[in-house]
Amino acid sequence: MLLSINDLSVRFATAAGTADAVASLSFAIEEGETLAIVGESGSGKSVSALAIMGLVPNPPGRVTSGQIVFRRRNGSTEDLLRASSARLRDIRGNEIAMVFQEPLAALSPVFTIGEQIAESLRLHQRKSHADAMRMAVRMLGSLGISEPEMRARSYPHQISGGMAQRVMIAMAMACRPRLLIADEPTTALDVTIQAEILSLIRQMKEETGMAVLFITHNLGVVAQIADRVAVMYAGRLVEEGPTKQIFSSPRMPYTSGLLASVPRLVTDDSPLVLSAIPGEPPSPLAHPRGCAFHPRCRYAVKGLCDTTPPPLRDLGNGQAARCLRIDEIVGGAT
Ligand SMILES: Nc1ncnc2c1ncn2[C@@H]1O[C@H](COP(=O)(O)OP(=O)(O)OP(=O)(O)O)[C@@H](O)[C@H]1O
Ligand SMILES: [Mg+2]
Repeated sequence: MLLSINDLSVRFATAAGTADAVASLSFAIEEGETLAIVGESGSGKSVSALAIMGLVPNPPGRVTSGQIVFRRRNGSTEDLLRASSARLRDIRGNEIAMVFQEPLAALSPVFTIGEQIAESLRLHQRKSHADAMRMAVRMLGSLGISEPEMRARSYPHQISGGMAQRVMIAMAMACRPRLLIADEPTTALDVTIQAEILSLIRQMKEETGMAVLFITHNLGVVAQIADRVAVMYAGRLVEEGPTKQIFSSPRMPYTSGLLASVPRLVTDDSPLVLSAIPGEPPSPLAHPRGCAFHPRCRYAVKGLCDTTPPPLRDLGNGQAARCLRIDEIVGGAT
């Protein structure tokens, strides 16, 4: 086990009340594995990733329970929620890296992209300035960026979103992470660039054996890249299992709804993806009683689904799902 999250809860204090962004979340990632987290907007995907990185903004956010146990390169384990900030910085720089949804916001506007990649190389691989700059140029070239010497001298505002995303990936890879967290790394990009970024991540993974936590709305992307899938709804894990199995026999009606609405093109990131599920995701300020999905679920029954919170049930085949009617619902996207 590389990373094991156990009972993680994160709350935000807002003017309108307390938002339960992540509620008692548990999952694990094996060495070298790609786990995709999917779920609608606001389901707690990014907040979970930020918690792993120790970057939940506090205030207004607060981790209220849980452990995030990471196995380090040297074999020791560390609860990231309880590690000193120095140790967390060390792990974050050297063993876990994150690519954010908005690369331009994560790059500094005042340094060239060459300088920024070189700086991560210098920090993590103790290179001289000249060596690091040469390596940065080489990395840009290997990321498929033409005229890398010239590009290295560009500032972030002079490059496209797709190129900025590649630069972010180059910076993340500079530390040779054992875990790469990629939060919607392709959402803002056009379809061709999306496909290139995905194959880049896949190639990096093959070269280094790193594990990937891939957060996305796009189930087409999941089918291409993930070994396992975790589905989140209203801050909770509602289903998980091997990708093939989740696609062929989802057991939680929410997962079936997500799958039923997958567009044809695997690289299409159309906002229509979730249109087959009626209604809106619930407000984190007031999750419905019982099963949080019951107001939108065609299988919900009164007096059961609206009162009793379903446990996550292990189905014994690597799959687990949170539904009170699981024995009555046979797998298969609707
Ligand atoms: N800084 C914040 N202040 C208050 N609430 C927040 C903050 N960040 C996140 N939240 C709340 O936490 C919940 C989970 O947010 P999160 O960003 O994890 O969603 P997500 O699944 O990543 O959604 P998306 O697909 O839109 O990126 C949301 O309801 C959001 O309103
Ligand atoms: Mg997000």
